[in-house]
Amino acid sequence: MNTLETINKRRSIRKFTDKALSQQQIETLLKAAMLAPTARNAQEWDFIVVRDRAVLNKLAKAHPYAQMLSTADCAIIVCGNTHRETAAGYWPGDCGAASQNILLAATDMGLGSVWLGVYPTPERMNAVGAVIGLPEHVKPFNIIALGYPDEKKEDVDRFDPAKVHYEKW
Ligand SMILES: Cc1cc2nc3c(=O)[nH]c(=O)nc-3n(C[C@H](O)[C@H](O)[C@H](O)COP(=O)(O)O)c2cc1C
Repeated sequence: MNTLETINKRRSIRKFTDKALSQQQIETLLKAAMLAPTARNAQEWDFIVVRDRAVLNKLAKAHPYAQMLSTADCAIIVCGNTHRETAAGYWPGDCGAASQNILLAATDMGLGSVWLGVYPTPERMNAVGAVIGLPEHVKPFNIIALGYPDEKKEDVDRFDPAKVHYEKW
C-alpha cells in the first residue's frame, strides 16, 4: 500500500480473530511509533505492551469503552514521560503522532487497531495507570488495541470543504 491508500484504509477495528501477532510485528509497530515527530525531538514517550490475557481483561474493565480488549491479541499503552519533557505541554501531541503512526503501520501490515482515549480523563488515567503500575510521572495517553481484523469497514470520505479556510477565517 502507498501512504495515501493506507490513510484511506485505516478504520477503527473492534472485532479480532484469535490469530496472534508475532514479536517482530510488534517491534515494527513500535519502530513506526518512535519515528513520529516530537517537539524539540524530545521523544518523551514510553510504550507498555500488554499480551497477558488477564491484564487485557483488567484494562477492558478499567476503561468504559474498551470491551474489545478482552478479544484483542495485544494492547500498546502509549504514555508520556514527564521526566523526559523538554518543554511543558507537548507530550499529548507527541503521543498522538506516535499513536497515529502505530495505527497506519498496523493498517499497512493487514492488522486491525483502535485508539482508546485515556488522557485527559483523570478517572481513566488513574484506572489504567493502576492496572499496569505506572509511576506518577508517566501519563497514560491512550490504549491501542491490536489484532487480526474480524470485521470489514466500507471506505468513507470525510472531506468537508466547509471546514477549510483559505488565507483567513
Ligand atoms: C482521542 C480518541 C479517543 C477514542 N476513544 C475511543 C474509545 O474509548 N473507544 C472506542 O471504541 N473508540 C475510540 N476512538 C475511536 C473513534 O471512535 C474513531 O476513530 C471514530 O469513530 C472514527 O472512526 P474510524 O477510526 O473508523 O475512522 C477514539 C479515537 C480518538 C482519536
